[in-house]
Amino acid sequence: MRILLCGGAGYIGAHAYVVLVERGHDVVVADNFSNSSPGVLARLRQITGRPVPFQPLDLRDRDAVTGFFAHQAFDAVVHFAALKSVGESCERPLDYFHNNIGGTLNLLHGMREAGVERLVFSSSATVYGDPDHVPVREDARLQVTNPYGRTKLVMEELIGDLCRSDAGFHAANLRYFNPVGAHASGLIGEDPTGIPNNLMPYICQVAVGRRDRLSVFGGDWPTVDGTGVRDYIHVMDLARAHADALDFLVRERRSLTVNVGTGQGVSVLQLVEAFAQAAARRIPYQVVARRPGDVAEVYADPSLAQRTLGWRAELGVEAMCRDAWRWQSQNPQGYPVA
Ligand code: NAD
Ligand code: UD1
Repeated sequence: MRILLCGGAGYIGAHAYVVLVERGHDVVVADNFSNSSPGVLARLRQITGRPVPFQPLDLRDRDAVTGFFAHQAFDAVVHFAALKSVGESCERPLDYFHNNIGGTLNLLHGMREAGVERLVFSSSATVYGDPDHVPVREDARLQVTNPYGRTKLVMEELIGDLCRSDAGFHAANLRYFNPVGAHASGLIGEDPTGIPNNLMPYICQVAVGRRDRLSVFGGDWPTVDGTGVRDYIHVMDLARAHADALDFLVRERRSLTVNVGTGQGVSVLQLVEAFAQAAARRIPYQVVARRPGDVAEVYADPSLAQRTLGWRAELGVEAMCRDAWRWQSQNPQGYPVA
């Protein structure tokens, strides 16, 4: 298939690019680099051994999006492009609505005009908020606690309406749990700008000496060791789920909303310990107050993905830490600045 990856220069998109090319697809990356580096394209070329078709594109520019689709034929779109910082979304909700919801509407409009009828959308476990029980199934109550989460929920709903209005249009909403790790080459990985919000990149930066110590947000949660429990998923397993979702859309001609997680809960301290082993170095930390908006425990019931996509996670916490550390130690400051 000829596939457009919107936001394909970002962390998850770059890994999905590698998997889709390996599966024999013809893949084009479109991005505005608002949260990524052009340096990723050279790395993708190095990994795949071929030039990376790239289109500069800002999804907020409706005319540019429509114009782009008018000159290109695609069988499917994988849509990663979004702003994703929870804290920032609370400070600047309109920017999040404009970029994530407005950008997606422009994309859907462009796809419709051009007759592109398959979409894989990056949703998030954030749509479950503070779940009533774990593991979380797809039919759990949906509830959002911040503007970022709301953009994901709204987009799932809008995409659902579009699918219902047009029997030919099919979408797979993938609800990612906590993506971590990197491609085994160490050439691509997560490269956050500024102070990392998420646990694994913070640990990586402590390990490589960019930060003194990790703050563990709360030691009094009702969990195995008092620290927050999440479902960390290796980004290469997650990348594979996109290829499987595209195959599903072609094969089954129907839409789907599915969890992409391992089904295993891992605490903050368990992840710190696993990372320390993988990197063979201490990770200094101190337990501090809980982070506002955090929840105790969230992990997936991934059985629907297994039944529908034939997908299950294969890589465990050890591989996640080993590969994250390979990326970080080979690229202490992230991608080279051009
Ligand atoms: P990322 O920021 O690394 O990648 C997103 C990419 O989209 C970036 O390259 C950015 O430049 C691009 N982009 C943003 N707005 C754009 C626009 N208007 N036009 C064109 N390009 C634009 O993030 P990621 O971690 O790779 O996440 C990918 C997707 O998965 C996002 O939609 C995110 O909300 C979702 N998600 C991520 C996580 C996570 O923990 N990383 C978890 C759940 C869901
Ligand atoms: C965060 C987002 C969520 C998003 C998800 C994607 C918030 C409130 N939620 O969730 O919307 O979908 O990322 O991956 O930002 N932790 C520390 N110290 C740190 C960082 C994190 O102790 O410096 C703890 C957290 O309290 C949590 C765990 O580590 O228990 C994981 O945190 P994080 O990586 O931010 O992911 P989520 O909280 O699951």
